[in-house]
Amino acid sequence: MGFNGTHLGPTIRAARGERVRIHVTNDLAMPTTAHWHGMILPASQDGTVHQSIKPADTWTAAWTIEQAPATLWYHPHPHGQTELQVGRGMAGMFIIDDDASTDLPSEYGVDDIPLIIQDVAVGAGGDAPGTPASAPIGRIGNTVIVNGTHQPHFEASSTLVRFRILNASAARCYNLELSTQGTFYLAGTDGGLLPSPAPLTSLLLSPAERAEVLIPVPRGADLTLRSTPFDLGMSHGDNIASGAEDTLGILRITGAPDAVTRVLPAALPAPELPQRKGTPTERHFTLGDTTINGKVMDMSRIDTVIPAGSTEIWTISNDSARAHNFHVHGTQFAVTAVNGAIPASANQGLKDTIFIAPGDMVELLVPFSVFADPVTPYMYHCHMLWHEDQGMMGQYILTGGAS
Ligand code: C2O
Ligand code: CU
Ligand code: CU
Repeated sequence: MGFNGTHLGPTIRAARGERVRIHVTNDLAMPTTAHWHGMILPASQDGTVHQSIKPADTWTAAWTIEQAPATLWYHPHPHGQTELQVGRGMAGMFIIDDDASTDLPSEYGVDDIPLIIQDVAVGAGGDAPGTPASAPIGRIGNTVIVNGTHQPHFEASSTLVRFRILNASAARCYNLELSTQGTFYLAGTDGGLLPSPAPLTSLLLSPAERAEVLIPVPRGADLTLRSTPFDLGMSHGDNIASGAEDTLGILRITGAPDAVTRVLPAALPAPELPQRKGTPTERHFTLGDTTINGKVMDMSRIDTVIPAGSTEIWTISNDSARAHNFHVHGTQFAVTAVNGAIPASANQGLKDTIFIAPGDMVELLVPFSVFADPVTPYMYHCHMLWHEDQGMMGQYILTGGAS
């Protein structure tokens, strides 16, 4: 399954201030939707289950890009079928272009490279084995594909390459590092750039999270971006079943002998983080095995009513024994604390999805848009797609304010 092809979809690019209109025709044999993950736009254009597209029908979304340059993505959001459709390949990137002043590699496909990482189940002889058993966090495949390719190889024609990495897997988390164990630099998180590239030697990316990383590739280098074992905070058995002890090659990167020299930018444009206004409303959400505040999704129930244009403090605690993450539609939030402490650099920029290990609690400052709509909800949910399909999702509406 794919958009405009048999697998994945075209990269969509637009600049801030541009008006976008996208026509989505459903050629599948089942209902689908097209959700613009990370986009700040009216709920009626968001492409959730409330904008379902029947087979053979066309749905049109239109909005104006009014947020920071970032690596967003798009995927279907049908009720209970998201794991199936995304897992079969329905995902694409949506890039909001850099501001002209930004000094980052930005030649798409040359030094600015999208990497859509998915895991698939492949049996002996290349057949897909029947339905794979679900780990506590969902379907885990045994084979990694990147942009639909197994064991990809990229030859760098410059000594510093920007990779826009999307974890488009249903459930697998990747703990990314270089086979050289060398330093790479985090330049951007889900919703925008960091104030300066942050040096890292590993980076955890849970499903739906994105990272813009800068990887130094010396001329003649031969290295591998790979995923290495990581403790997701579950029992040892659940960690193993969830693939967290696997070592997987993601991308072999070699440096061309005549690569051009590119240096790391010292600073990036100041991030547009939300600010606290007055005394923000505080809300608390508790994650269970497949529930939020003890409930499963009901399409006809509004869980949270929020004044349009307000900024709130949301705390999310994972009281279950399973790893989860938490995604909020229609916003890019700031992570103000993880277990009461200042978050690590991977969570210091704008985010729309955050990993929450069992027992952990995160505090978010969430700015809501001005797009009031008393009848069309946005969603918040765990982005491990089996959990999402089980109904680990709630709905909010924005009231009052400008519409
Ligand atoms: Cu990536 Cu509710 O979505
Ligand atoms: Cu989303
Ligand atoms: Cu979950």
